[in-house]
Amino acid sequence: MAQGHIPVLLQETLTLLSPAPGEVFLDGTTGAGGHAVEFARKIGPDGLLVCADSDPAMLAVAAERLSAFPRVRMVHADFSDLGRLREAAGWRPFDGALLDLGVSSLQLSDPGRGFSFREDGPLDMRRDPGSGGPTAGEILRDAREKELADLFYRYGEERYSRRIARAVAGRRRKAPLRSTTELAALVASAIPRRRWPRDIHPATRVFQALRIAVNREIDSLAAFLEAIPGHLSPGGRVAVISFHSLEDRLVKEAFRRRAGGPGGGAALEALTRKPVVPSDREVRENPRARSAKLRAARRREEEESG
Ligand SMILES: C[S@@+](CC[C@H](N)C(=O)[O-])C[C@H]1O[C@@H](n2cnc3c(N)ncnc32)[C@H](O)[C@@H]1O
Repeated sequence: MAQGHIPVLLQETLTLLSPAPGEVFLDGTTGAGGHAVEFARKIGPDGLLVCADSDPAMLAVAAERLSAFPRVRMVHADFSDLGRLREAAGWRPFDGALLDLGVSSLQLSDPGRGFSFREDGPLDMRRDPGSGGPTAGEILRDAREKELADLFYRYGEERYSRRIARAVAGRRRKAPLRSTTELAALVASAIPRRRWPRDIHPATRVFQALRIAVNREIDSLAAFLEAIPGHLSPGGRVAVISFHSLEDRLVKEAFRRRAGGPGGGAALEALTRKPVVPSDREVRENPRARSAKLRAARRREEEESG
């Protein structure tokens, strides 16, 4: 697969967002550009595609891949910064918008970024290293034990959050945690061996929790969901692929909240009653798709909202 990242739920996303010639599209999480290339093809030379990513390294990869398409604007931005993304679209509303959350395989496979425990790397995990925000290592060093336990539980759904937080606190009294493999080994040693998850590494959930905290992922998603209906054209579609129940719940509730009725604002109509999940075959071919859930909604035409 081109660029080493296989786009998740690609056909299902295209069916729900139905990009058509001449339309204006937003890929808020461009990554390696797997979904974006298909949007660019379908909207054609009269369409316009805005591609955002908060990771400059990913944006550079996607820019090269999308260079054959003239009507693509690459923007280094958080997807919640919808004002900037609309500006890049010449203030035209979006006919379609996608978020494919989480990490790209390319980010995971670069040990220098600190996203993965498989190879030794610094405990960084910032998507935008220029953002100046705290790294995973700084959070592990500075947060109180209770705060760490809450973070592992809330963002990682980690049952052994307290034990792991205790192990981190004990360890940092002796020497700071410096690398991804040190953290992974510490987490594994804090969970009783017979309780290790069967299908994932014992440190997966803690790494996920730290990544979500470092990049304020829940805040960005909540802000995007709140604002996006007002940035869609009537009939415009929005889709979100999430990998975590906390994210999926936010999406589900946001679409429900905007399902018309009093309260004003642009109204959405859900296009998926239940989340769309990958087929067994897709999961076999791309294990990263395992926990993916896709939901989509459409902005109602003005007369439909009453
Ligand atoms: C799973 S990858 C997207 C893969 C892409 N759909 C493809 O098929 O190649 C997620 C991407 O979104 C970016 N990202 C995550 N959260 C973001 C945010 N809040 N704002 C902008 N980009 C974000 C990540 O840096 C990463 O490159």
